[in-house]
Amino acid sequence: MSENIHTEFHRMMGREAKEAQLLQRGRVFWFYGLSGSGKSTLAIALEQALAERGHFTKLLDGDNIRSRLNADLGFSDTDRVENIRRIAEVARLFVESGVIVLASFITPTRRLRETTTEIIGEADCTPIYVQASYETCAQRDVKGLYAKAKAGSVKDFTGKDSGFELPGETAKDWCIDTDSLSGAQAVEQLLERILPMVAVSAGDS
Ligand code: ADX
Repeated sequence: MSENIHTEFHRMMGREAKEAQLLQRGRVFWFYGLSGSGKSTLAIALEQALAERGHFTKLLDGDNIRSRLNADLGFSDTDRVENIRRIAEVARLFVESGVIVLASFITPTRRLRETTTEIIGEADCTPIYVQASYETCAQRDVKGLYAKAKAGSVKDFTGKDSGFELPGETAKDWCIDTDSLSGAQAVEQLLERILPMVAVSAGDS
């Protein structure tokens, strides 16, 4: 199928030129966790904090992407694989343009999280587990989905009839506990680690 495809990557303006233009390193910070765990809230606050420090970002969010690019996909295991694959490819495109990407998707399995780092590249992708128990998320129930799932009207709901795998023992993923941290504290902790990673001097060696 790809025999008649002649890519132009080598002729296009490269990532380094883009990063020099934006005065930052492109990186992906991939927030994963249950629906309602606080991924999007955290990513939105972080995007604001990064913008205030002069950084250029793109936020990719589950419900938004599923309303357009991935509107053809549902919540079966197969569809979730395709959902994450496409988003990781999109994130990769942004990183190649020097953009800091904040991705916010349930990404329920370890295999799916590996897929993101495989597609984006380990050096450019930091998985961040946004930790909150099913009970906490069900109590918050901002979108009313937990109540619907309880009533049996949402199919394949994550954490109920579709699985969510915790990070593995050996996973180097960052972890943010939204049960015990305030939003401001979480953003502060994240910024402390993220800012050196996106600084122009990062990765020069
Ligand atoms: S993922 O599992 O494929 O990574 P994604 O992050 O894109 O999921 O989408 C999750 C969002 O879709 C949730 O935050 C929720 O608002 C909505 N949603 C609708 N149906 C479901 C479902 N069955 N399971 C989980 N989330 C659902």
